[in-house]
Amino acid sequence: MSIDEKKFKEIIAEFTLTGEQLREIAANFRQDLQLGLKNPDDSSLRMLKSYVGLPDGTEHGEFLALDFGGTNVRVSRIRLEGEGRFEITKRVGEPLIIPGKYDYIGKDSTAEQMFDFLAKLIDEAIDNEREKKFYLGHTFSFPSSQDDLNNARLIIWTKEFATPGVEGEVVNDLLTAALKRRGIENVEPVAVINDTVAVLLSAAYKNSGIYIGSIYATGHNTCYIEPTIHDPKGFGKGGMILNLESGGFMKLAPNRFDLEFDKRSEKPGEQRFEKMVSGRYMGELLDMATAELLNDVGKIYGFTSIDMSAIISDETPDLKKAAEIVEEKTGHKLETDDLKKIKELSSAIVIRSARLVTTSFVGIIWQRTGNKKIEPQHIAIDGSVYEKMPLVKENIAHALSELLGEEGAGVDTILDNGGSGLGAAIAAAMAV
Ligand code: BGC
Repeated sequence: MSIDEKKFKEIIAEFTLTGEQLREIAANFRQDLQLGLKNPDDSSLRMLKSYVGLPDGTEHGEFLALDFGGTNVRVSRIRLEGEGRFEITKRVGEPLIIPGKYDYIGKDSTAEQMFDFLAKLIDEAIDNEREKKFYLGHTFSFPSSQDDLNNARLIIWTKEFATPGVEGEVVNDLLTAALKRRGIENVEPVAVINDTVAVLLSAAYKNSGIYIGSIYATGHNTCYIEPTIHDPKGFGKGGMILNLESGGFMKLAPNRFDLEFDKRSEKPGEQRFEKMVSGRYMGELLDMATAELLNDVGKIYGFTSIDMSAIISDETPDLKKAAEIVEEKTGHKLETDDLKKIKELSSAIVIRSARLVTTSFVGIIWQRTGNKKIEPQHIAIDGSVYEKMPLVKENIAHALSELLGEEGAGVDTILDNGGSGLGAAIAAAMAV
């Protein structure tokens, strides 16, 4: 078979954002920030208060960090030594789902099973110790409303998590109850934060000039430090970190694939931005567009973002690796010219994602800067898409300079690898 050239060009155009569209989305993002600062109900950004500001770098001591937010749960013991120094003294981790074996995130699981699983991992991390006291920082990477640093109520599951009995509940209550069931009385949860907040804390513990933290992985979201909000129940300096839940941003230019995919997702109408950019969803967009090109509309091939990464990285003349993946997923044996098209389509989806993510960073920078000069800064990012997906870093850099021009020359992005765990430990240290 051979892919229709006209149809292909049309689809690529649908996944391409012009500089003008980019600027408009960034301006919309800024506007939603402004609206949200006055009243979050008027904005598509949830702007959730975290009750924590930036660390001052003197944080010390050993803490437990529970990192919960993707398919893998990790529990670490982290010793903070101040001034950006730390040591991970123990780390355990397991996935929340092993198909065919167990599944704690599906519709048939229960909150008790999920939190008992977390308590089991915590027990491993403390070597079943029952005497020594541990303070625990918990990174919980879903939209949650808080009225202090230690309590977070899950508003809604994202990333296709579906465990019943957790939405609307205070996650620390569920965790404390599970610890109790296991007979663990010496672990005290003292802080719960979003993973973006964790990344910002972790990066700010190590460097200066950090105001924005982001996750670009299975899910996507960004937070920043808002200097005008202070709260007596808050910890840290510089104001308060707001978890924007930017994955829920709405003022976008979705194409028909985005609209169609949203309809068949676990939560239609929610997380529209995230569904256009994050690792959990990019493969699905490739799936739909490819099915159209191969005249298989309606068929689900099951492409993942890992497949996309492999397809884009294939530099062999006959695209051998890409051919294998495409054949395995679609059942079609494609000629090199057609494989090139699938590669270009994958690249277009990734480039659009990186450019869209950048609009949110720029919206925040414009909002923080007002009429002043843009401060030199590093935007701290963690996550597999940022770290490993080809084309992402350079397209963020390119879009940053497209939108900020010369004035933004001092703005760049840095990887804060493992920030989710370290940030949880820092939050715990700040809380005690
Ligand atoms: C969640 C955010 C989280 C992001 C990255 C999104 O689905 O709503 O709270 O920060 O994923 O993990």
